[in-house]
Order: sequence, then C-alpha cells, then structure tokens
Amino acid sequence: MSTPILDTRRVIIVGAGLGALYAALKLAPHPVLVISPETLGEGASSAWAQGGVAAAMAATDSPQSHASDTEIAGAGTVDAAIARLVTEDAKSRIHDLTTLGTPFDRDGQGGYVMSREAAHSVARVVRVKGDQAGREIMETLIAEARRCPSVQVAEGVLASGLAVEAGAVTGVWVERAGAPSGRILLKTPAVLLAGGGSGGLFAVTTNPPRIRGQVIGMAARAGARIADAEFVQFHPTAIATGEDPAPLATEALRGEGAVLLNNRGERFMLPIHPDAELAPRDIVARAVYTERQAGREPVLDTRDVLGAELPARFPAVAEACLQAGIDPVLQPIPVAAAAHYHMGGVAVDETGCASLDRLWVCGEASSTGLHGANRLASNGLLEALVFARICAEGIADLVDETPAPEVVLDFPDGGQEVDEDAVQRLRQAMTNGCGVVRSAEGLTETLATIADIEAQATCETLRNMTATATLIATAALERTESRGGHFRSDYPKIDPIQAKRRFLTLPEALIL
Ligand code: SIN
Repeated sequence: MSTPILDTRRVIIVGAGLGALYAALKLAPHPVLVISPETLGEGASSAWAQGGVAAAMAATDSPQSHASDTEIAGAGTVDAAIARLVTEDAKSRIHDLTTLGTPFDRDGQGGYVMSREAAHSVARVVRVKGDQAGREIMETLIAEARRCPSVQVAEGVLASGLAVEAGAVTGVWVERAGAPSGRILLKTPAVLLAGGGSGGLFAVTTNPPRIRGQVIGMAARAGARIADAEFVQFHPTAIATGEDPAPLATEALRGEGAVLLNNRGERFMLPIHPDAELAPRDIVARAVYTERQAGREPVLDTRDVLGAELPARFPAVAEACLQAGIDPVLQPIPVAAAAHYHMGGVAVDETGCASLDRLWVCGEASSTGLHGANRLASNGLLEALVFARICAEGIADLVDETPAPEVVLDFPDGGQEVDEDAVQRLRQAMTNGCGVVRSAEGLTETLATIADIEAQATCETLRNMTATATLIATAALERTESRGGHFRSDYPKIDPIQAKRRFLTLPEALIL
C-alpha cells in the first residue's frame, strides 16, 4: 500500500507546550496545525514549571543586569547578543501574557511579585499562585488556542520524522501516539519544532514521561545542525520519591531561605560556594549528587523559613510531598539531582531558523545560545516566549494566510510499539556514563550501548532518541574540560581555550 500523503496547507507546529501554543496564537490568522501526542495541557514540560518567568519588571532592575546574570551563570559560552535580545523583550512578553489573562501574583500596589532564584542578582521571577506559573500560563494559552479559528490541534498524534527536499523541510511524518499505526506524511509550507528537550533520556527526570529527546533527534536525522548538546542541566532539588518522573521542590524555596542539610545535620553548601544554596544550579546539583552518592541523604529543610505557610505559598510542592508520604511542614524534604533541562538542541539563529530551510525551532528543543553551559533559573519559559514570537513573525512573512480546510487524519494499520526495555536501557546508560559526573571511560561505554540499541531499533521514535543520546554523549566526550552543567571527573577544570559553543551534525557525531 502506498504511504498516505496529505497537503495540509497549514504551518505545522510539533509540540504543545508554551512555545508551541504561543507561536500558534502569534501566527493567527495563518492556518496552523499543532501536533500533540497528549490532550493539550498534559505531557508538556512547560506545564510542570514551578518557578515562573525571569523578567526585569522592577523599577530597580534592568534587562542589562538580567543579561549579565545570564552570561555569568552560562559559564563563558552564552551568546551576548541573544542574551540582550531575550532580556530586552521580557517585559513585553509578561505584559502580553497578562493581557491574555494569566493571573500573575501581584502586591498591594498592583506590582508583580518577584521570587528570588539562584544566580539572579535580584528577585526577578514573576510567578503565579506561588509555584503554579507553568500550569497557569498553559491554561491561559490553551483556552486561547482552543478559541482561535486558525489553530487546529491534532491530539493523540506523534511526529516521528521530517521530510526534506533539496535542503528544505517539506513535511512531517506522523503516527498515532500511544498505539502503533502506519505513518502519514503531512506536507506543509513551514515547520516549527517546539516539542521539548531530553530530560527523559536519563533514568530520573523532572520532565513529563514522553520528553525523551525525540524532537531534537528527528531534526538531527533530517540533517539539522545541533548545538551545545553536551550541556544538560540537572536540577538539585527534585523530590527524592524513588519515582520517575520526580516532582520538583522549586528553587524559589531556597530563594526564601530553605537550606540543604545532610544526615549529619551539616549545611553542606556553606563551604562550597559563598552563595551557598543559591549558588549556580550546576554547583548545587553536583553537591547534592555527591552527598547522595556518599550515602549522606541530602534534604531541603523549609521548616524554619516557611513552616506552616508552605502549603499556602507553594501548593504544588506541598501536594507532591504529601503524595510521597512526606509532610513538609513537619519534615525536611529528601532531594536528589535529576535531569531537568537541555541547554543544547537544534541550532538556530537570532530569527529562530535552523540550518535547514523552512525549519524553525523554539523552546527547549532549540539552542539559541542564551543558556550557555548552565541555564539561569526561569530563563527557559522566557526564551520559549521570546523565540515563539520571533519564529511566528518569520514564518508569517513567508507563508500564505489563506484559510485552510481542517486536516483529517485516518491512520493506516502498521507500525511498531516502542521497545520499552530498550528505552529503559538507554536511559540507564545515559545516567551511568553521561550524568552529573562524566569521564571518557563512562562516555565510551555509554556510546557503545547507544550504538547497540540503535542497531536493534525497529521504530522511528527510538531512533530519534538514540540520535539525541549519541549527540549528547559524543559532544560530552569531545569537551575535555568541566564547564557549567558538563562535569568531567578526568578533566575537572575549566579550560579557557574551550570557551566556545560546539556545533555538530549527526553524521559528524557518528564518525567522531
Ligand atoms: C524551579 O522552579 O526550580 C525550576 C525553574 C527553572 O528550571 O527555571
């Protein structure tokens, strides 16, 4: 049977998180098809973000100061022009979300309430209902997207490949999500990838279960250049429930003064960094990891600073703790480092364009150069908003806005289930050799396991995952220094000569 091909005459957006939906709205009235494996609101990392959006909203703050903090946290590989571009647009994005209806927390004078997070020189993170920013912003955007006549959402649909002709992306291969089916090729005038990062390529992550590097892998397999692949951020205070995904205990708790202790009662961050618990995230993550590896059971103690106020001020954290059988009002919260954010991704320029024509990327799937080796807290949602706007403007300039008929997807039979055992083997190999602490020996072993899994893969989804894993581990092996989120036990020092971004295609990674 021949492969079904549908000419959608719509811009296709792969993903359904904050960047995807904000871009879909900004593209109106251009017809858009949003491809979402789950029902909107489920499965996107943005909805799980607790802290909020970093933006210099206070009269005493400035985009320059925000850009400077971003560069310092990024450990020498932040693109300064991108940091300026993003931080200067932050205020407008917050005002836009406010107009759309996001109920940001306000003080008695109507000003935005700001949280303090690590490596920000001032309190600069706008928030919603304490720790519900991601969920509330997503609710605002989902309601708007559902109302918007130019936006069609295809739920329960998984993108598994890109079609490329003469260096330009011309289509997206899709299949049914959650149950095997044959594939359909959707032809399109433009593709925006906004389907999240790679957290789920590691054994324990704070990301929703489906976020396993597939979107980056799909672009890499189509020939797109990938940047900064080795830079993966591990969050220091995932709640150690023994479960995966692990819920977050937001960094804003440490901003309020919560402290990290080990089972000897030592505040172990004090001798490590002058900012102690508010040191850059990679430093805190390594310290928490070291304590846990040594069996010293690190915990986050909020009792002195928040006490009985915690459930009202941080309801998501309180709920996650209670579900794990921990009462955070009475007990310290057990914590562990968990894969949280991929600074690397599909390389894009300042217009959000990738190295293939007709391909734009925003959010965690992209690598704009904003985050360098270590993302500043709450710059993730901000970058997604700013680049969603930029991508939408670029696409709108090129694509016709004539309304298009609804796309009806009738999947043929066929397809293969993802081999879940192979996925778990891949995730464990990434954590073992390419996790918080890396070495040439561990990375070489991980790469051999990835190659073995790839050789036996029978479906595109798994091949997309192994492609991203290969890029991460290869770039990590090539970077013979320690910088930001990338720590090599065999090269524990920063090497000034390597203070530059690394760009790789998949064929280059495979021969390195
Ligand atoms: C947090 O709330 O700790 C996470 C925020 C972020 O990763 O930007």
